[in-house]
Amino acid sequence: MLIEQVKLVSNNILARGIYAMELSAPGIAQSIQPGQFVNVLINATWSPLLRRPMSVASRQGDRIGLIYKVFGSGTATMAGWLPGQQVDLLGPLGNGWSAVDGSYPVLVGGGVGIAPILFLHDALDQAGREHHLIMGARDGEEHFLTHAPERHITLTTDNGTAGLEGTVVDGLKQVLNQVGSEPVTIFGCGPAPMLTALKNFANAHDLPCQLALEEMMGCGFGICQGCSVELKTKFGKDQPSYRERFQLVCLDGPVFWAHQLV
Ligand SMILES: Cc1cc2nc3c(=O)[nH]c(=O)nc-3n(C[C@H](O)[C@H](O)[C@H](O)COP(=O)(O)OP(=O)(O)OC[C@H]3O[C@@H](n4cnc5c(N)ncnc54)[C@H](O)[C@@H]3O)c2cc1C
Ligand code: FES
Repeated sequence: MLIEQVKLVSNNILARGIYAMELSAPGIAQSIQPGQFVNVLINATWSPLLRRPMSVASRQGDRIGLIYKVFGSGTATMAGWLPGQQVDLLGPLGNGWSAVDGSYPVLVGGGVGIAPILFLHDALDQAGREHHLIMGARDGEEHFLTHAPERHITLTTDNGTAGLEGTVVDGLKQVLNQVGSEPVTIFGCGPAPMLTALKNFANAHDLPCQLALEEMMGCGFGICQGCSVELKTKFGKDQPSYRERFQLVCLDGPVFWAHQLV
């Protein structure tokens, strides 16, 4: 983990309210892994006070890419940054996705959860590993990929304006039907209701599933304890050590196995 002063290369709108930023960040790019994130300092005056966590969406040589949605003041400020701007980043942070051999990866992203999914998608492409990508959004204007099931890319929208009408779980059911009896592993990231739906579906069907959580965070590296998540332990609720039962999204995550999450 390092603090790096990096240079903004480009910052463009991708879809409604969603931006893609490219940064020249040689130090962080050298070791960042899919599923890890960086903490972005919004202002040298530390106002707003906290850094904003952003998953890395891509790496090309010395450059990393972020994909972010404007939510509040921090991300609105980021949307106004111009090429050449110096940006203070802390990273790489978090654990990243676990490699899974011998099963077919099905990647599921929605909302702001597309970034770590796209980084994994690129890594699997580069490794020549077949997989399926499912992206969900409320409507077609939030999508920037093309629905192409024949190329293993499925889009879903709540209102049917792009791809399949329905949620990512509807897309997942369709993909699983096509995959047949081959073992799969699901990798998911997105808004909390989507992650809950994915977790319930995966657990109900006994499917291995990794989820990248995007909890609210304070420090981003294990000091403030502001991002704890409760895990099932082998001892149940009565006896486990606190550290075993409550883990930190910033340090132990953001990626957890769905069957371990309470
Ligand atoms: C590990 C991790 C990775 C993330 N990766 C991305 C990413 O790749 N792209 C992206 O767009 N966002 C990502 N987020 C969420 C992002 O950090 C928040 O959207 C951002 O901090 C909001 O800052 P703000 O100042 O614009 O909004 P604030 O003014 O802080 O908040 C505005 C609103 O945004 C909501 N909000 C704030 N923080 C979060 C959060 N962590 N998750 C969901 N909603 C939030 C709040 O409900 C609040 O109402 C990630 C979060 C985590 C923890
Ligand atoms: S954000 Fe501070 S401990 Fe996780």
